Amino acid sequence: MTKKLEIYKCNICGNIVEVMHEGEGALVCCGEEMKLMSEQKGDPLSERHMPILEENGMEKTIRVGFEPHPMSDEHRVEFIEVISKDKKWVKRKYLDAGDEPEMKFKCDCKEGIDARELCNIHGLWKNEF
Ligand SMILES: [Fe+2]
Repeated sequence: MTKKLEIYKCNICGNIVEVMHEGEGALVCCGEEMKLMSEQKGDPLSERHMPILEENGMEKTIRVGFEPHPMSDEHRVEFIEVISKDKKWVKRKYLDAGDEPEMKFKCDCKEGIDARELCNIHGLWKNEF
């Protein structure tokens, strides 16, 4: 049984998928069940993986780490996602090595948002605003 917007990884080939529509079955890749990636959390002041929100009216920026997360080929943020509290919309930005670990977007976000980021080494991280 999957849930909408869960992220699963195949520990054999590295495939990563996000659930767009939940169903009863288990997700399988390379002959094994894919592993649900847990949404890790930490103190944003000390944890460089935590998404941070900066606001200027409708203009929002999610950054990864007050001290920016590395963005090298070996170690980088693969994507940043913003999800509305009612899960009716998702905004996602894919990042390459050398990019700033940030995502700009516009919304009033009055109901609040969740932000997630995926580090290619340290996994999935989430913060709520
Ligand atoms: Fe990392």
